[in-house]
Amino acid sequence: MQPQDVLADPKDAFLSAMRFRRAIKAFDPDRRIAAADFDFLLEVARLSPSSNGLEPWNILVIESPQLREKLHSEALIPQAQLQASHLIAFTAKTAKVLARDSSHFRHMNVDVRGYPAADAEQRFAGFQSFLADKLGIGDNNRAIFDYAARQAYIAMANLCTAAAFIGVESCPLEGFVYAAAEKALAEAGVLELSTDRLAVMVALGYRSEDPHREQVRREMGEIVRFS
Ligand SMILES: Cc1cc2nc3c(=O)[nH]c(=O)nc-3n(C[C@H](O)[C@H](O)[C@H](O)COP(=O)(O)O)c2cc1C
Repeated sequence: MQPQDVLADPKDAFLSAMRFRRAIKAFDPDRRIAAADFDFLLEVARLSPSSNGLEPWNILVIESPQLREKLHSEALIPQAQLQASHLIAFTAKTAKVLARDSSHFRHMNVDVRGYPAADAEQRFAGFQSFLADKLGIGDNNRAIFDYAARQAYIAMANLCTAAAFIGVESCPLEGFVYAAAEKALAEAGVLELSTDRLAVMVALGYRSEDPHREQVRREMGEIVRFS
């Protein structure tokens, strides 16, 4: 069975999820996402595509009230969003483990994807050449991290869309003090900064008040050019 066969009107169902999804500024602290729904959202993120199949992300589920409090007081995430049912952080691999040594590449290709270990270093050299010669970022550690973070954002976006599809609300978060948030996560022992840095966070739950404005977008004609 194909996905489109599950729903009577798949385009309508998908678009109504896209129209329902809004960046929620204030969450109801008393409404929890059901465990099965949260598991579904993590599975959607896990299945997301990534450049070279490297899945250069991890997901931290931030449950500790003390950690959430620090993210408010030090990283300046608004309390009204931090009180969401779930707060998750997508991390991305640093250049060190993505491009300077082959540890993540080997793990993905040999352990996860089952390619022969004997080919791993040659494949890794091909990946380094992709970064240097195709993307032009081979010697730029920040750009390599940003390449990894872009993949994490794909997983984040898929998760937010899937959430909307099942009536769970969300807000992507990057308007906070990254250095302070990374420090808080590192001190809590959930982030090793030499290998993983913070890409983006998401608050998930249910709204406590109506979003402050309509969903506004540019017209299609302004966005799309056919050539
Ligand atoms: C990557 C990303 C980061 C965002 N960061 C924040 C944020 O830190 N705080 C916030 O309130 N909204 C944040 N937003 C929400 C956007 O402001 C919002 O999606 C946009 O204004 C469109 O509104 P809508 O999503 O309700 O349609 C972010 C959205 C994205 C995609």
